[in-house]
Amino acid sequence: MATLSPIYVVYVCCLLFITTVSRLSSTLAQSDMYIIHMDMAAMPKAFSSHHTWYAATLSSVSNNSVANSNTDATIPTPNLVYTYTNAIHGFSARLSPSELDSLKKLPGYISSTRDIPVTVHTTHTPEFLDLNPNYGAWPASNYGQDVIVGLVDTGIWPESESFNDDGMSEVPSRWKGECVNATQFSSSMCNKKLIGARFFNKGLSGKYPNLTFSVNSTRDTDGHGTHTSSTAAGNYVEAASLFGYAKGTARGMAPRSHVAMYKAIWELGAYTSDIIAAIDQAILDGVDVLSLSFGRDGLSLYADPVAIATFAATEKGIFVVSSAGNEGPEYGILHNGIPWVLTVAAGTVDRQFDGIVTLDNGVSITGASLYLGNSSLSHVPLVLMNECASVKELKMVGNKIVVCVDKNESVYNQVNKVEAAKLPGGIFISNSSDLEFYIQTSFPAVFLSPGDGQAILDYIQGSSEPGATLEFRKTSIGTKTAPRLALYSSWGPSPSCPSVLKPDLMAPGDFILASWAQSSPVGVDSGNQLYSSFNIISGTSMACPHAAGVAALLKGAHPEWSPAAIRSALMTTADFLDNALNPIQVAGYKNKAASPLAMGAGHINPNKALDPGLIYDASTDDYVSLLCALNYTMNEIKMITRSSDFNCSNPSLDLNYPSFIAFFNAQDSGSDAKVVQEFQRTVTNVGEGMSTYTAYLTPMDGFQVAVVPDTLVFREKYEKLSYKLSIEGPTRMKEKVVHGSISWTDSGGKHVVRSPIVTTSLSSEPL
Ligand SMILES: *[C@@H]1O[C@H](CO)[C@@H](O)[C@H](O)[C@H]1NC(C)=O
Ligand SMILES: *[C@@H]1O[C@H](CO)[C@@H](O)[C@H](O)[C@H]1NC(C)=O
Ligand SMILES: *[C@@H]1O[C@H](CO)[C@@H](O)[C@H](O)[C@H]1NC(C)=O
Ligand SMILES: *[C@@H]1O[C@H](CO)[C@@H](O)[C@H](O)[C@H]1NC(C)=O
Ligand SMILES: *[C@@H]1O[C@H](CO)[C@@H](O)[C@H](O)[C@H]1NC(C)=O
Ligand SMILES: *[C@@H]1O[C@H](CO)[C@@H](O)[C@H](O)[C@H]1NC(C)=O
Ligand SMILES: *[C@@H]1O[C@H](CO)[C@@H](O)[C@H](O)[C@H]1NC(C)=O
Ligand SMILES: *[C@@H]1O[C@H](CO)[C@@H](O)[C@H](O)[C@H]1NC(C)=O
Ligand SMILES: *[C@@H]1O[C@H](CO)[C@@H](O)[C@H](O)[C@H]1NC(C)=O
Repeated sequence: MATLSPIYVVYVCCLLFITTVSRLSSTLAQSDMYIIHMDMAAMPKAFSSHHTWYAATLSSVSNNSVANSNTDATIPTPNLVYTYTNAIHGFSARLSPSELDSLKKLPGYISSTRDIPVTVHTTHTPEFLDLNPNYGAWPASNYGQDVIVGLVDTGIWPESESFNDDGMSEVPSRWKGECVNATQFSSSMCNKKLIGARFFNKGLSGKYPNLTFSVNSTRDTDGHGTHTSSTAAGNYVEAASLFGYAKGTARGMAPRSHVAMYKAIWELGAYTSDIIAAIDQAILDGVDVLSLSFGRDGLSLYADPVAIATFAATEKGIFVVSSAGNEGPEYGILHNGIPWVLTVAAGTVDRQFDGIVTLDNGVSITGASLYLGNSSLSHVPLVLMNECASVKELKMVGNKIVVCVDKNESVYNQVNKVEAAKLPGGIFISNSSDLEFYIQTSFPAVFLSPGDGQAILDYIQGSSEPGATLEFRKTSIGTKTAPRLALYSSWGPSPSCPSVLKPDLMAPGDFILASWAQSSPVGVDSGNQLYSSFNIISGTSMACPHAAGVAALLKGAHPEWSPAAIRSALMTTADFLDNALNPIQVAGYKNKAASPLAMGAGHINPNKALDPGLIYDASTDDYVSLLCALNYTMNEIKMITRSSDFNCSNPSLDLNYPSFIAFFNAQDSGSDAKVVQEFQRTVTNVGEGMSTYTAYLTPMDGFQVAVVPDTLVFREKYEKLSYKLSIEGPTRMKEKVVHGSISWTDSGGKHVVRSPIVTTSLSSEPL
């Protein structure tokens, strides 16, 4: 999709906040905002805390604060923006070039990065995921009771029905969070559902000192954060809908989990210093799951604030979920390809929003529409304009429904032109499947495939006075095939860490109904803005909180599981077939099956994830071995680990991960020589005590895949056993991607532990 600078929004319709910041120039041309990483081991004993040390360090290089050697005093350092405790060791500050130079010479300084913007990327989805009160993940976790889901997002609309606390258990006593009282947000707005509300904009206002925030609080003025948080853990709301579309009882994936909102994404921008501060605080407050629907392209792991801050969170046992980004379908442009977080792609749901065209000859045709208005068109004349490429010509049509056929002009442009011509209605015939980008129109419109549209073209041709009636606000459930990977969902390999296959899995992200900020319009009808307490939007931003909510259920059911164990359970039990039992396809992409580089292990399956049989665990040391193998310098690794207490005696790119990616991309590829790539994995038995698992491999064209041993006999629960997977293939393969899988199946057939395998000629060079 198009690049929206400087912030990409991770939902694909309703692009409300975008470019304001690019028009503001930084007032202090010379100085800028930096994030400084410090080595805590170098802190002189005289300092009582890292806060005073950071302040003194900054003060000693600062031009506008008094030098002060008193190590305990609160030193006035106007340039200091945040001191961080958990997410990184260091602080953020506004510095001039000379101040930065001086700082670099001080003891304890590791590195600095300029503060940069990040790319900000329901009713029916619980049934679609087979969440059911009678069995599986809901009852097993008591609906996520006592689990705290934190989100870093655009804030929250506390009055939304999704955040009422009916039926909620008490706030866990371990919770250290707070509901911050500020503009239009009183601390009394929190309850047993919404247990934390904090906001972070000192970095943004440090960068642009003249910015004013009309709502300087955690209140969501956009809608995105209200939508993601209600998707993850919203309470039950009956008869929810968007003007009749998607009507039903809305609730989040973990309806009994608590919600904590950390607002760091503002309509005016979103900066890493604020994001790190938000994650820093979420770690301290005690969230269990963290949902991050934003990211940043083109950075090595040690320079990526999301990667750094989430390393600390993961180390503390917090399960972190992030969105893959909305820049598909193309290899290697995924966000958040971070080995210690769950990276989520977006899929469709078996639900469709319908507009119905009834021709005056009585024939009815159902197409897609998300028109929200009340205009009804009854027996209105039809006119065929084919391309609908000229507003001038369209204006001459008069009071008719125009029929546009997509030959060369994009549907998106056609819709804009019909809107500009102010015609009463439109019927758009197209095989384009990017419906997310245009089916919510400001005038009555129905979208049909060329097959379905043919009846209308034939009718117009054969009728002297063609006419039609358009009806809206219908929803169909159970449409096939679903899920499909959304066309916009970003594909791996991960630019920062290609050796770990990303994304990890897909979750519902397309046309998701969830709560909305009531001050933010959901659409337009005949020039009037429309408001609603629910909205339907799409994006990997919407998929991320679905996975976060499901992770909260797993955390509730298995509090002892590590973040890697939860991720493994979600991945190895994901569905790779759709509801017609075919391999999951990419929507509108020549009906091609989605590769694991597009959808990861498959579509999230909460009930199966509850009981995965085996898990692939990983510890901080394993991630460090990976960082060592990425050939980072000691300082670069320290920026992530926040400690020098590690050694690189055991570097390995072969992380104990529930998926495999092997690169066959040698540059000097003349020969017929074969190469073998080997992977070592260790699985832990989390099922019943005694069990025997056998490996099944799917064939991969052009490759010999082998597993040794091919049987694993477990004598007890929590026993660990290892195996080796080897892939023999050409030094350089001709195809871009070939994929297969390995499934460990227990003798009773109860557990199938499946991992995708990808071989690829794409680049294995990390950023
Ligand atoms: C910021 O505000 C100050 C004081 O109001 C003013 O002098 C300055 O020109 C403003 N800068 C910008 C970039 O608008
Ligand atoms: C202060 O600013 C001046 C010029 O702007 C610079 O030469 C000097 O090194 C700065 N730092 C200190 C600590 O005075
Ligand atoms: C909350 O803030 C408002 C003004 O923003 C103030 O009037 C009120 O006293 C504050 N309440 C508390 C409990 O601090
Ligand atoms: C926003 O509110 C906080 C306190 O609630 C205050 O410290 C900060 O200066 C305010 N920011 C702006 C830009 O008004
Ligand atoms: C359409 O009419 C219904 C019923 O009168 C009303 O509830 C709804 O808000 C209207 N929708 C719009 C978009 O005006
Ligand atoms: C298709 O559109 C492009 C530009 O959008 C134009 O250059 C080209 O001539 C058009 N082709 C036809 C066949 O109309
Ligand atoms: C739509 O169909 C036309 C021809 O009918 C074809 O050229 C075009 O590639 C198709 N577009 C998509 C997205 O499948
Ligand atoms: C790290 O450096 C070694 C030795 O130069 C090299 O063989 C290896 O490919 C490098 N690893 C990566 C991930 O670039
Ligand atoms: C590095 O770690 C390994 C174990 O992983 C240990 O055997 C070795 O002694 C350590 N080396 C140093 C220099 O600490």
